[in-house]
Amino acid sequence: MKKHLILCLLFALFTGELAAQELITNVYGRSVRSLNGKWNAIVDLYDQGHRMEVYKNMSPQGNTDFYEYSFENGLRLNVPGDWNSQMPELKYYEGTIWYARHFDARREPGKRQFLYFAAVSYRSRVYLNGEIADHEGGFTPFQVEVTDLLKEGDNFLTVEVNNRRIKDAIPALSFDWWNYGGITRDVLLVTTPQTYIEEYVVQLDKEQPDRLITKVRLSEQKAGEKVSVTIPELKITFELYTDSEGKAEAVKTVKKFQRWSPDTPKLYEVRVTSATDCVTEQIGFRNITVKGTDIYLNGKPMFMCSISFHEEIPQRMGRAFSEADAAMLLNEAKALGVNMIRLAHYPQNEYTVRLAEKMGFILWQEIPIWQGIDFTDDTTRRKAQNMLSEMIKRDRNRCAVGFWGVANETQPSKERNAFLSSLLETGKQLDTTRLYVAAFDLVRFNAEKQRFVMDDSFTSRLDVVAVNKYMGWYHPWPVEPKDAIWNVVPDKPLIISEFGGEALYGQSGSEDVVSSWSEEYQARLYRDNIRMFDNIPNLRGVSPWVLFDFRSPFPFHPTNQDGWNRKGLISDQGMRKKAWYLMRDYYQKKKLTNR
Ligand code: GCU
Repeated sequence: MKKHLILCLLFALFTGELAAQELITNVYGRSVRSLNGKWNAIVDLYDQGHRMEVYKNMSPQGNTDFYEYSFENGLRLNVPGDWNSQMPELKYYEGTIWYARHFDARREPGKRQFLYFAAVSYRSRVYLNGEIADHEGGFTPFQVEVTDLLKEGDNFLTVEVNNRRIKDAIPALSFDWWNYGGITRDVLLVTTPQTYIEEYVVQLDKEQPDRLITKVRLSEQKAGEKVSVTIPELKITFELYTDSEGKAEAVKTVKKFQRWSPDTPKLYEVRVTSATDCVTEQIGFRNITVKGTDIYLNGKPMFMCSISFHEEIPQRMGRAFSEADAAMLLNEAKALGVNMIRLAHYPQNEYTVRLAEKMGFILWQEIPIWQGIDFTDDTTRRKAQNMLSEMIKRDRNRCAVGFWGVANETQPSKERNAFLSSLLETGKQLDTTRLYVAAFDLVRFNAEKQRFVMDDSFTSRLDVVAVNKYMGWYHPWPVEPKDAIWNVVPDKPLIISEFGGEALYGQSGSEDVVSSWSEEYQARLYRDNIRMFDNIPNLRGVSPWVLFDFRSPFPFHPTNQDGWNRKGLISDQGMRKKAWYLMRDYYQKKKLTNR
């Protein structure tokens, strides 16, 4: 352990930054204590708190002691949760807020202890008797070891959080969703044995459907340590012995087992045991591959009946963070009859991913490389690679995740291709068992050929190509929908990852007038797009944008939008619009024919 701490401190010395540490696989399956609840907070718009050393939580003792701050008896914020939805004054707040709380701890001889943050939006610095970690990225977890920093009894933990948008961030200066800030997901105190099982992966080989691969890494680089991976229901046991780096891997051929799918979301208990540690979790096994223009799940071609949603509970006007939130969003997806969900536009919380897996949804997870990213900036690229790695490491054992998305609506350029190629390389070093995809907004109607076409060489690097195309909303129809023929990446599976248009729930109007923001127009738009889908020979999935109306500073219309993007099939109050019923019926038919 001291080695980890020394390495981190050396890193800090040379880089001036304390980096968060290697993630522990399946944190929720460890010995964890929640640090969620009401935290004290200080709004620090001019970033004075670091200079004032507020994290020292000093209070006057003598007559001449003087501190222009106190965490006591002031603002209190819920953790987890964005700050924007907790106080009207914080609705648009972009800047620093200091969070702080006391907690009692027990030093546990022969154990190691870590602080784990499931997500903090957007960047954070963690203080426990001094600065101990920093992290950038609002949607992926990080942790820091505190074994030798915890005091017996009372401890004072401070987290400096900043959500100010900056040019080299991911996402960058503007994006079509609310810039929620805060400790937006769980905070846990994790306790492990001195030597623990740090990382493990158990999954099917992508190309050989009966080869089960398991990889394990212990926290200590010790050779010859025995680690067992058992799947009791299948009577399978891997006996592994670590190498000098504390790693081990093995392969077994498995014959009779139930593969995971949306119709049969079978999960198995998997138990990973070492001399000093034991972790169990539910893991499913499936194969997802591409052959020609088809997407195969467990060897059968599949049409992706998909939907997208943001990580937001519109009725609460705040970020989703709990299992109850996940249930609400996923139950609405189930009612629509989808078999896939695009978790837009960033890695969403683990409750959503794990519950989606139990309920039987294939997931597309992506990092928010969303429009205006500076592809010439190496710092931005490293941040994107780090965010992608953190997403994959967290969810590598989630069989529901079928797609890793590396970009949304980027424009072709040498720099963009190099940037996204580096993301694909980073991803494939960690996981080659899933499909890599990106969404483009480059489909154009070629009047001469009377075809919808797209020209972007980067599509050749992807397993599946996705396009966002708003026919009838941002783009009037150049031909009748039934005559709209597509010739877009004809040699690959194509998913329409976004289509749709806006309607204010309950607003009626002409189905011929796009600016009516009426349910009738939105329904007509859906009927037209559904008619067009039949003319796309390599179409293997569609995903309406979007399940729920969601908050965004982008839309300016004062009455039809009022700070909401109204493309939801369901209103911000949870009311289903006319178009919802059209998509539900379309999916019922599609699933019968699976084409
Ligand atoms: C884009 C983008 C979405 C956005 C949508 C819209 O395609 O990917 O994030 O919300 O358009 O304009 O509604």
